[in-house]
Amino acid sequence: MRQFIPSSYKNEVENGVVGWQSPSNIALVKYWGKRDPQLPENPSISFTLDACRTKTKMYYSPKIYPGNSLSFDVYFEGEKNEAFKPKIFKFFERIEEYCPFVRNFHFKIETENTFPHSSGIASSASGMSALALCLMSVEKELVGDMTEEFFNKKASFLARLGSGSACRSIEGDLIVWGEHDHIKGSNDLFGIQYPDTVHPNFKNYHDTILLIDKGEKQVSSTVGHDLMHGHPFAKNRFLQAHENLSKLRTILKEGDLEGFINIMESEALTLHAMMMTSNPYFILMKPNTLKVINKIWEFRKETGLPIGFTLDAGANVHILYPENDSVRIFQFIKDQLVEYCQNGHYICDRVGAGASRLKV
Ligand code: DP6
Repeated sequence: MRQFIPSSYKNEVENGVVGWQSPSNIALVKYWGKRDPQLPENPSISFTLDACRTKTKMYYSPKIYPGNSLSFDVYFEGEKNEAFKPKIFKFFERIEEYCPFVRNFHFKIETENTFPHSSGIASSASGMSALALCLMSVEKELVGDMTEEFFNKKASFLARLGSGSACRSIEGDLIVWGEHDHIKGSNDLFGIQYPDTVHPNFKNYHDTILLIDKGEKQVSSTVGHDLMHGHPFAKNRFLQAHENLSKLRTILKEGDLEGFINIMESEALTLHAMMMTSNPYFILMKPNTLKVINKIWEFRKETGLPIGFTLDAGANVHILYPENDSVRIFQFIKDQLVEYCQNGHYICDRVGAGASRLKV
């Protein structure tokens, strides 16, 4: 971790502004269970998304009396937002050791999402990664030169301290986070681009997100992760994630769509099984989540088309399918699944290339 502690800041920096847009991601092998400080209990892998993004601008100005308390304001979609402040405050406190400059500036953070705020889509991955990237741009000005590799690595490292899954939102298009014996460079501190062979079947993969329930979740991911401590199935679950990632390596190399769907759906249902077998137990799926899953299984059986689903910690369903079969599968979604979405709302997303700097 020492590599992320800057030795000195060479440059004096005046007022300025930086901006980044950062995508969400969807995990194929899930991160569920962590230990301090924000380290995963098992490795995970995700597709970086494209359409679901957070855009963040960070205005910074040197404080007259640096070194005192943290000082920042947050604006969400143009309006001052107090609700986000505690999470960002905690984030700043966690990263302070690695970005000591945070106490020397006042920040004005302006942020907005490309997806509706109340969609039930987690914005912590895109939001925290965008914030981490903005901080890295400020740090780069203070330090002078910095390689792109280090910039991305530290951005992922910082993002992780904000929200675990956020460390997988810096680059595209398949990202691994958490140490795995057979994936070179994989580690618990930051996400890396999946280094092994990926069959063209998995390029331009589609993710149509059905918004089944846009309400606030009854149980946050943070609480859910915590319930994995002392969970009766935790040990086996963590082992299973390692094994699933091993199997996925072969599947990704060979372009095995059937095998891919099998791992992805099993991971989604296992995640929710962990929630149902926690104590206290909880269920985040809704009746329409199950209706959609059954419809997908029926359609796959009838047509043989490679359509599969995954779930995050919520009721919404991510439907994943390859570019080659996208026309027929999307038609099925429109004809038969959209009726299960709240107000008929869904988002057409696909695998993306990662975050990009905003012109500000
Ligand atoms: C179910 O990254 O939201 O989406 O680290 O507490 O912020 P915190 O949790 P978060 O957990 C996401 C869990 C998941 C699975 C995944 O994305 O791997």
